[in-house]
Amino acid sequence: MGGDNIIVVVIMMSCLLDASVEGKLRVGFYNKSCPNAETIVRSVVRQAAISDQNNIPALLRLHFHDCFVHGCEGSILIDRGLEADEKRAFGHQGVRGFDVVETAKAQLEAVCPAIVSCSDILAMAARDAVFLSQGPWYDVETGRRDGLVSNVTLASHMPDVADSITKLKAKFLAKGLTLKDLVVLSGAHTIGTTACFFVKPRLYEFPGNGGSDPSINAGFLPELKSTCPKDGDVNVRLAMDRGSEKVFDTQIMANIRSGTAVLQSDAALYQDDATRGVVDSSVGTSFHADFAASMLKMGRIGVSTGSKGQIRRLCSSFN
Ligand code: HEM
Ligand SMILES: *[C@@H]1O[C@H](CO)[C@@H](O)[C@H](O)[C@H]1NC(C)=O
Ligand SMILES: *[C@@H]1O[C@H](CO)[C@@H](O)[C@H](O)[C@H]1NC(C)=O
Repeated sequence: MGGDNIIVVVIMMSCLLDASVEGKLRVGFYNKSCPNAETIVRSVVRQAAISDQNNIPALLRLHFHDCFVHGCEGSILIDRGLEADEKRAFGHQGVRGFDVVETAKAQLEAVCPAIVSCSDILAMAARDAVFLSQGPWYDVETGRRDGLVSNVTLASHMPDVADSITKLKAKFLAKGLTLKDLVVLSGAHTIGTTACFFVKPRLYEFPGNGGSDPSINAGFLPELKSTCPKDGDVNVRLAMDRGSEKVFDTQIMANIRSGTAVLQSDAALYQDDATRGVVDSSVGTSFHADFAASMLKMGRIGVSTGSKGQIRRLCSSFN
């Protein structure tokens, strides 16, 4: 090979290397371009939690719902006031915390305009929400770019509370997540609340028997029914992790085992040999580390990096 050829090969290889680096998320992506990015988001999340404790679980859920539809690229945040906006999808019912994201964005724009993406704000805020509720701290990967799509149809495959365990596994697998990720990430329900809307079907019109879900602990059923009466308000909210809804701990796994899970999709995790095994082992000490690892995986779904997409100025609008 002549000298010229070697140079050409070296240049080609370094281009390939650049492309692969450019295409990846990194811990500390904003170290140089916006050194206070993570600190700013953390302080906004902390303030938001002081004014309303519900913002903590809200922000964790928002990142999940963002990542599961068209990747973690902020599509759920777009609000053109249209029925076609992804945000309005049935599968996103109850998502909240948008104002917190917009507050963080405004503060970031003031110090480093057009640098930090809204999809990264979601990833950072979710990490902070976990930590602020005494869950694991983990280094969050950043470098996502915001997408240019918001399409309500794309949200039709969101995991649903009434999905069978087979369906839940398939929906996670379709996103590159394993059955272990499914169980561990469902552990996010260790914090936050659900509307009776999502619970009533399993109390009064369970498929197959038209009554209540037989997997509900007999002692727990009357409690659930009294919180969510048959003809009661569907907007009444209750903790998903009975007895420990503010602390990011393994109580949710113990509840799933004892039939005191509130959500049908959580209870379903105990109805399959493989996922049951993960629930049983998640009652142990590995849950925090496993959760952090699964969050990193979820945060990589369908991301745009490098020069794709854009950095929104306002999280609710395309530039
Ligand atoms: C396995 C499939 C899942 C299903 C079917 C599901 C379903 C639900 C439902 C029905 C609610 C109640 C919403 C409301 O009434 O406002 C909820 C809340 C929540 N979910 Fe999930 N979820 C799933 C997975 C996840 C994952 C992977 C995460 C995060 C990693 C997550 C985090 C949360 C949080 C934090 C809340 C509480 C929200 C709040 O208090 O505002 N969920 N989920
Ligand atoms: C940013 O700084 C942190 C902490 O010093 C370091 O772990 C990380 O690798 C840095 N990332 C980049 C992309 O420079
Ligand atoms: C939304 O997504 C669906 C399903 O991929 C597609 O058929 C439809 O054309 C999209 N709508 C818009 C406005 O892009």
